[in-house]
Amino acid sequence: MPAPALPVLAPDDAGLARAAALLARGGLVAFPTETVYGLGADARDDRAVAGIFAAKGRPAFNPLILHVADLAAAQAIGRFDARAERVAAAFWPGPLTLVLPLRDGAGISPLATAGLATVALRVPAHPVARALLAAFGGPVAAPSANPSGRVSPTTAAHVVAGLSGRIDAVVDGGACGVGVESTILGLDGPAILLREGGIAAERLAAVLGETPRAAEAGARPVAPGALASHYAPRGVMRLNAAGAEPGEVMLGFGPVACDLNLSKAGDLTEAAANLYACLHRLDAMGADRIAVSPVPEAGLGRAINDRLRRAAAPRPGALA
Ligand code: TXA
Ligand code: MG
Repeated sequence: MPAPALPVLAPDDAGLARAAALLARGGLVAFPTETVYGLGADARDDRAVAGIFAAKGRPAFNPLILHVADLAAAQAIGRFDARAERVAAAFWPGPLTLVLPLRDGAGISPLATAGLATVALRVPAHPVARALLAAFGGPVAAPSANPSGRVSPTTAAHVVAGLSGRIDAVVDGGACGVGVESTILGLDGPAILLREGGIAAERLAAVLGETPRAAEAGARPVAPGALASHYAPRGVMRLNAAGAEPGEVMLGFGPVACDLNLSKAGDLTEAAANLYACLHRLDAMGADRIAVSPVPEAGLGRAINDRLRRAAAPRPGALA
C-alpha cells in the first residue's frame, strides 16, 4: 500500500503532542470540534494562515474564527464587555463564536482577521480540540476543513477525502456531535446574529436580555470579505501595472523594480502572507497613488487578486 498522503493522528498524548508541534512550526492540522472539523494554523503566523487559504483553495480571504483554550486566552485577544462576559460564561466551551473588538498588540495575523478591527473567537467544547489547544498554548485560526465550495467535514475520513496531500495531519476524534457550524454573535456594537448555528438564537436572547438583530443584507456584512472598504488602503490603486508612473508607489510581485514587494520570489503563499502588511505600509507611507504588479490568477493568486480588485474598486471618500 502507498503511504497515506495525510497522516491521521490518534487523539492520545503522542498524537496531540505531534499535532501541537506541527502547529508550532507553521503547519496545518485538521482537528475535531463539536461542530465540524476545523483546519487549524497558528493564528499569529502570517504564512501558516496563508497556508489555510491555499489548502482550501479559497477564492477570497474571509476572516477566520480563532479557537482558544479558555476565556482568559480569549480576553487576551478580544475586548469583552459585560454582555460578552455573560454569554461566554453561559455558552463556553461550546458552539458559539463572538465577534469582538480586537485588542491592539494581540499579535494576531491580519490575514486571520482579514485586516478588520474585530476578531471572531470561540472556545470549543470537544475534548480533543481542548486538549490540542492546551498542548499548543496559542490561538488557532480554523475554518471548516474542506476544500472551498464543498461540504463541511464531520469525520476525519471526510478530511482525508478532501485535503490529502494539502495539509500536514488530521487528528481523528470520531464524528462531530453538533454537525453544523457555531452560531456567530457580533458584540462589537449592538448585538447582531451574524450566523445561525449550534446555539439557538432564543437561548442567546435569554442570556443577553435582548433579541440580537438578524444580520440583513446591507445592514452589516455577514462575510465582511464582501465589503470593499475593509481592505482598501487610502490611496488609489492601479492593477496589472508593468511599472510605476511618476508619483505612484509600486507594489511589486516577483523580480520587478518596486517600493514594496509582495514576494520577490513570486511565491503566492508568501505574497498572501505579506498582503495586509503591505497595504498597511502603503497607508503608513502616505501613498496616494499605487501601482500593483500583475499577480497570476491561479491558486492563492485568485484570493490575492480578489482582495486587490476590491481595494482598487471605486469607493466613496477615496482620493480622486
Ligand atoms: O463551527 C465553526 O465555527 C467552525 C469550526 C471549525 O469551529 N468554523 C467555521 O469557520 O465555521 P469558517 O471560517 O467557516 O466561518 C467563519 C465565519 C465567516 O462567516 C466569517 O465571515 C465570520 O466567521 N467572521 C470571522 N471573523 C469575523 C469578523 N471579525 N466579523 C464578522 N464575521 C466574522
Ligand atoms: Mg466553512
